[in-house]
Amino acid sequence: MKEQIDYLESRLKARPEIAIVLGSGLGPMADEVSDPTVIPYEDIPGWPHSTAVGHAGKLIFGQLEGRNVVVMSGRAHLYEGHSIDKVVLGARVMARLGASKVILTNAAGGINLSYNRGALVLITDHLNLQGTNPLLGPNDDSLGPRFPDMTFCYSPRLRQVALDTAQRIGSTLHQGVYACLSGPTYETPAEIRYLRIIGADLVGMSTVPEAIALNHMGAEVVAFSCVTNMAAGITNEKIHHGEVLETGRDVSAQFINLIRAMLPSV
Ligand code: HPA
Repeated sequence: MKEQIDYLESRLKARPEIAIVLGSGLGPMADEVSDPTVIPYEDIPGWPHSTAVGHAGKLIFGQLEGRNVVVMSGRAHLYEGHSIDKVVLGARVMARLGASKVILTNAAGGINLSYNRGALVLITDHLNLQGTNPLLGPNDDSLGPRFPDMTFCYSPRLRQVALDTAQRIGSTLHQGVYACLSGPTYETPAEIRYLRIIGADLVGMSTVPEAIALNHMGAEVVAFSCVTNMAAGITNEKIHHGEVLETGRDVSAQFINLIRAMLPSV
Protein backbone atom coordinates (compact mmCIF):
# COMPACT_ATOMS: atom_id res chain seq x y z
CA MET A 1 0.00 0.00 0.00
CA LYS A 2 2.95 2.31 0.68
CA GLU A 3 3.89 2.80 -2.97
CA GLN A 4 0.36 3.83 -3.97
CA ILE A 5 0.10 6.24 -1.02
CA ASP A 6 3.51 7.79 -1.76
CA TYR A 7 2.57 8.28 -5.41
CA LEU A 8 -0.85 9.79 -4.67
CA GLU A 9 0.48 12.06 -1.92
CA SER A 10 2.97 13.46 -4.43
CA ARG A 11 0.04 14.46 -6.68
CA LEU A 12 -2.51 15.72 -4.15
CA LYS A 13 -3.37 19.31 -3.35
CA ALA A 14 -5.53 18.40 -0.35
CA ARG A 15 -6.35 15.25 1.58
CA PRO A 16 -9.80 13.80 0.97
CA GLU A 17 -12.17 13.59 3.93
CA ILE A 18 -14.80 11.58 2.07
CA ALA A 19 -14.38 8.85 -0.54
CA ILE A 20 -17.10 7.90 -3.00
CA VAL A 21 -16.88 4.63 -4.93
CA LEU A 22 -18.99 4.56 -8.08
CA GLY A 23 -20.71 1.40 -9.28
CA SER A 24 -21.67 0.38 -12.82
CA GLY A 25 -23.34 3.14 -14.79
CA LEU A 26 -22.84 5.76 -12.06
CA GLY A 27 -19.77 7.27 -13.68
CA PRO A 28 -21.37 10.69 -14.39
CA MET A 29 -20.85 11.62 -10.73
CA ALA A 30 -17.15 11.96 -11.50
CA ASP A 31 -17.92 14.98 -13.72
CA GLU A 32 -19.44 16.87 -10.79
CA VAL A 33 -16.19 17.25 -8.88
CA SER A 34 -14.84 20.81 -8.93
CA ASP A 35 -11.16 21.69 -9.26
CA PRO A 36 -10.47 18.05 -10.13
CA THR A 37 -7.14 16.24 -10.11
CA VAL A 38 -7.79 13.20 -12.29
CA ILE A 39 -5.46 10.24 -11.90
CA PRO A 40 -5.93 7.28 -14.29
CA TYR A 41 -5.42 3.90 -12.66
CA GLU A 42 -2.61 3.11 -15.12
CA ASP A 43 -0.55 5.91 -13.59
CA ILE A 44 -0.68 4.47 -10.05
CA PRO A 45 1.92 1.77 -9.39
CA GLY A 46 0.41 -1.63 -8.59
CA TRP A 47 -3.17 -0.40 -8.95
CA PRO A 48 -5.61 -3.01 -10.32
CA HIS A 49 -7.16 -2.08 -13.64
CA SER A 50 -10.92 -2.32 -13.90
CA THR A 51 -11.91 -4.35 -16.93
CA ALA A 52 -15.67 -4.20 -16.31
CA VAL A 53 -17.59 -2.26 -18.96
CA GLY A 54 -19.21 0.77 -17.33
CA HIS A 55 -16.26 1.34 -15.00
CA ALA A 56 -13.97 4.16 -16.08
CA GLY A 57 -10.74 3.52 -14.17
CA LYS A 58 -9.68 6.79 -12.58
CA LEU A 59 -9.46 8.57 -9.24
CA ILE A 60 -10.80 12.11 -9.09
CA PHE A 61 -9.69 14.30 -6.19
CA GLY A 62 -11.44 17.64 -5.68
CA GLN A 63 -14.42 19.29 -4.02
CA LEU A 64 -18.11 18.49 -3.90
CA GLU A 65 -20.49 20.59 -1.80
CA GLY A 66 -17.47 22.21 -0.19
CA ARG A 67 -16.03 18.90 1.05
CA ASN A 68 -12.69 17.47 -0.04
CA VAL A 69 -13.55 14.22 -1.77
CA VAL A 70 -11.98 11.48 -3.78
CA VAL A 71 -14.19 9.71 -6.28
CA MET A 72 -13.13 6.24 -7.33
CA SER A 73 -14.63 5.74 -10.75
CA GLY A 74 -14.27 2.05 -11.41
CA ARG A 75 -13.42 -0.67 -8.92
CA ALA A 76 -11.73 -4.05 -9.05
CA HIS A 77 -13.96 -7.10 -8.66
CA LEU A 78 -13.12 -10.61 -7.57
CA TYR A 79 -14.62 -12.01 -10.79
CA GLU A 80 -12.01 -10.17 -12.85
CA GLY A 81 -9.42 -12.45 -11.34
CA HIS A 82 -8.01 -9.89 -8.92
CA SER A 83 -6.90 -11.17 -5.54
CA ILE A 84 -9.08 -10.06 -2.64
CA ASP A 85 -6.18 -7.82 -1.50
CA LYS A 86 -6.31 -5.96 -4.82
CA VAL A 87 -10.10 -5.73 -4.64
CA VAL A 88 -9.83 -3.71 -1.41
CA LEU A 89 -6.59 -1.86 -2.15
CA GLY A 90 -8.38 1.27 -3.41
CA ALA A 91 -10.63 1.49 -0.36
CA ARG A 92 -7.69 1.03 2.00
CA VAL A 93 -5.56 3.63 0.24
CA MET A 94 -8.37 6.20 0.27
CA ALA A 95 -8.95 5.63 3.97
CA ARG A 96 -5.22 5.94 4.66
CA LEU A 97 -5.09 9.18 2.67
CA GLY A 98 -7.61 10.63 5.10
CA ALA A 99 -11.07 9.57 3.92
CA SER A 100 -12.57 8.48 7.22
CA LYS A 101 -16.04 8.39 5.65
CA VAL A 102 -16.75 6.31 2.60
CA ILE A 103 -19.81 6.18 0.37
CA LEU A 104 -19.99 2.92 -1.58
CA THR A 105 -22.39 2.52 -4.48
CA ASN A 106 -23.24 -0.41 -6.69
CA ALA A 107 -25.63 -1.82 -9.22
CA ALA A 108 -27.63 -4.73 -7.81
CA GLY A 109 -30.36 -7.18 -8.65
CA GLY A 110 -33.57 -6.66 -6.68
CA ILE A 111 -34.77 -9.68 -4.69
CA ASN A 112 -37.28 -7.89 -2.47
CA LEU A 113 -40.52 -7.80 -4.43
CA SER A 114 -41.38 -4.34 -3.15
CA TYR A 115 -38.49 -2.91 -5.19
CA ASN A 116 -38.65 -2.11 -8.84
CA ARG A 117 -36.08 -1.40 -11.51
CA GLY A 118 -34.40 1.93 -10.81
CA ALA A 119 -35.08 1.85 -7.06
CA LEU A 120 -32.39 3.29 -4.76
CA VAL A 121 -31.70 1.22 -1.68
CA LEU A 122 -29.72 2.05 1.45
CA ILE A 123 -27.77 -1.05 2.49
CA THR A 124 -28.46 -1.87 6.15
CA ASP A 125 -26.39 -5.04 6.38
CA HIS A 126 -24.84 -7.72 4.20
CA LEU A 127 -24.41 -11.42 3.62
CA ASN A 128 -20.85 -12.18 2.54
CA LEU A 129 -21.26 -15.17 0.23
CA GLN A 130 -18.10 -14.65 -1.82
CA GLY A 131 -16.33 -17.50 -0.07
CA THR A 132 -13.49 -15.20 0.90
CA ASN A 133 -12.73 -12.26 3.16
CA PRO A 134 -10.19 -9.46 2.68
CA LEU A 135 -8.92 -9.99 6.24
CA LEU A 136 -7.87 -13.62 5.71
CA GLY A 137 -4.21 -14.19 6.54
CA PRO A 138 -1.94 -12.54 9.09
CA ASN A 139 -3.58 -9.47 10.59
CA ASP A 140 -1.99 -6.11 9.83
CA ASP A 141 -2.31 -4.55 13.28
CA SER A 142 -1.53 -1.13 11.84
CA LEU A 143 -4.85 -1.33 9.96
CA GLY A 144 -7.14 -2.74 12.64
CA PRO A 145 -7.93 -5.59 15.04
CA ARG A 146 -7.75 -9.33 14.32
CA PHE A 147 -11.47 -9.91 14.93
CA PRO A 148 -13.35 -6.76 13.93
CA ASP A 149 -16.91 -6.35 15.10
CA MET A 150 -19.37 -6.08 12.21
CA THR A 151 -22.51 -5.07 14.11
CA PHE A 152 -22.29 -1.52 12.80
CA CYS A 153 -20.51 -2.17 9.50
CA TYR A 154 -22.90 0.28 7.81
CA SER A 155 -22.73 3.36 10.03
CA PRO A 156 -26.03 4.00 11.84
CA ARG A 157 -25.18 7.72 11.87
CA LEU A 158 -24.59 7.92 8.13
CA ARG A 159 -27.63 5.76 7.42
CA GLN A 160 -29.73 8.24 9.35
CA VAL A 161 -28.16 11.10 7.39
CA ALA A 162 -29.07 9.29 4.16
CA LEU A 163 -32.67 8.68 5.25
CA ASP A 164 -33.15 12.24 6.50
CA THR A 165 -31.64 13.63 3.30
CA ALA A 166 -33.84 11.47 1.07
CA GLN A 167 -36.90 12.64 2.96
CA ARG A 168 -35.84 16.28 2.76
CA ILE A 169 -35.33 16.21 -1.00
CA GLY A 170 -38.37 14.01 -1.66
CA SER A 171 -36.41 11.05 -3.01
CA THR A 172 -37.62 7.52 -2.28
CA LEU A 173 -34.93 5.52 -0.51
CA HIS A 174 -35.60 1.88 0.32
CA GLN A 175 -33.55 -0.13 2.80
CA GLY A 176 -32.27 -3.67 2.50
CA VAL A 177 -29.72 -6.41 3.04
CA TYR A 178 -27.18 -6.95 0.25
CA ALA A 179 -25.92 -10.43 -0.58
CA CYS A 180 -22.51 -10.43 -2.21
CA LEU A 181 -21.58 -13.30 -4.53
CA SER A 182 -18.44 -13.73 -6.61
CA GLY A 183 -20.15 -13.68 -10.01
CA PRO A 184 -19.50 -13.31 -12.89
CA THR A 185 -22.60 -15.34 -13.69
CA TYR A 186 -25.84 -13.78 -12.66
CA GLU A 187 -27.72 -16.02 -10.26
CA THR A 188 -30.09 -18.84 -11.11
CA PRO A 189 -33.75 -18.47 -10.13
CA ALA A 190 -33.20 -21.18 -7.46
CA GLU A 191 -30.30 -19.20 -6.01
CA ILE A 192 -32.50 -16.11 -5.83
CA ARG A 193 -35.23 -18.04 -3.99
CA TYR A 194 -32.57 -19.29 -1.58
CA LEU A 195 -31.14 -15.79 -1.08
CA ARG A 196 -34.61 -14.45 -0.31
CA ILE A 197 -35.13 -17.17 2.33
CA ILE A 198 -31.84 -16.35 4.05
CA GLY A 199 -32.69 -12.66 4.28
CA ALA A 200 -31.32 -10.94 1.19
CA ASP A 201 -33.14 -8.04 -0.45
CA LEU A 202 -30.43 -7.32 -3.04
CA VAL A 203 -27.72 -9.27 -4.82
CA GLY A 204 -24.48 -8.13 -6.37
CA MET A 205 -20.78 -8.77 -6.87
CA SER A 206 -19.05 -5.90 -5.07
CA THR A 207 -19.07 -3.54 -2.08
CA VAL A 208 -18.84 -6.12 0.72
CA PRO A 209 -15.05 -6.65 0.54
CA GLU A 210 -14.54 -2.88 0.67
CA ALA A 211 -17.06 -2.48 3.51
CA ILE A 212 -15.23 -5.17 5.52
CA ALA A 213 -11.77 -3.69 4.91
CA LEU A 214 -12.99 -0.18 5.77
CA ASN A 215 -14.82 -1.31 8.89
CA HIS A 216 -11.57 -3.01 9.95
CA MET A 217 -9.78 0.34 9.62
CA GLY A 218 -12.45 2.16 11.62
CA ALA A 219 -13.80 4.15 8.67
CA GLU A 220 -17.48 5.07 8.61
CA VAL A 221 -19.23 3.37 5.71
CA VAL A 222 -22.54 4.04 4.03
CA ALA A 223 -23.58 2.06 0.97
CA PHE A 224 -26.27 2.33 -1.67
CA SER A 225 -27.54 0.02 -4.36
CA CYS A 226 -29.28 0.99 -7.52
CA VAL A 227 -31.65 -1.83 -8.48
CA THR A 228 -30.69 -2.08 -12.13
CA ASN A 229 -32.79 -5.19 -12.73
CA MET A 230 -35.04 -7.48 -10.78
CA ALA A 231 -33.08 -10.63 -9.87
CA ALA A 232 -33.19 -13.83 -11.90
CA GLY A 233 -36.53 -15.59 -12.17
CA ILE A 234 -38.60 -12.69 -10.82
CA THR A 235 -39.60 -11.56 -14.27
CA ASN A 236 -39.61 -13.87 -17.22
CA GLU A 237 -36.68 -12.09 -18.81
CA LYS A 238 -32.97 -12.73 -19.04
CA ILE A 239 -30.56 -10.33 -17.33
CA HIS A 240 -28.22 -8.38 -19.60
CA HIS A 241 -25.29 -6.22 -18.56
CA GLY A 242 -26.63 -3.63 -21.05
CA GLU A 243 -29.82 -3.33 -18.98
CA VAL A 244 -27.74 -2.94 -15.82
CA LEU A 245 -25.78 -0.06 -17.36
CA GLU A 246 -28.85 1.56 -18.88
CA THR A 247 -30.77 1.64 -15.59
CA GLY A 248 -27.68 2.96 -13.83
CA ARG A 249 -27.56 5.81 -16.32
CA ASP A 250 -31.31 6.48 -16.03
CA VAL A 251 -31.17 6.98 -12.28
CA SER A 252 -27.70 8.47 -12.00
CA ALA A 253 -29.05 12.04 -11.77
CA GLN A 254 -31.32 11.11 -8.86
CA PHE A 255 -28.50 9.15 -7.21
CA ILE A 256 -26.08 12.06 -7.62
CA ASN A 257 -28.63 14.48 -6.14
CA LEU A 258 -29.04 12.31 -3.08
CA ILE A 259 -25.32 11.94 -2.49
CA ARG A 260 -24.63 15.63 -3.05
CA ALA A 261 -27.45 16.61 -0.72
CA MET A 262 -26.15 14.42 2.09
CA LEU A 263 -22.48 15.45 1.78
CA PRO A 264 -22.65 18.50 4.08
CA SER A 265 -23.78 16.23 6.94
CA VAL A 266 -21.48 13.27 6.19
N1 HPA B 1 -27.04 -10.12 -9.83
C1 HPA B 1 -25.77 -9.87 -9.43
N2 HPA B 1 -25.16 -8.73 -9.61
C2 HPA B 1 -25.85 -7.75 -10.24
C3 HPA B 1 -27.16 -7.93 -10.68
C4 HPA B 1 -27.80 -9.18 -10.46
O1 HPA B 1 -28.95 -9.42 -10.82
N3 HPA B 1 -27.54 -6.76 -11.27
C5 HPA B 1 -26.49 -5.90 -11.15
N4 HPA B 1 -25.45 -6.49 -10.53
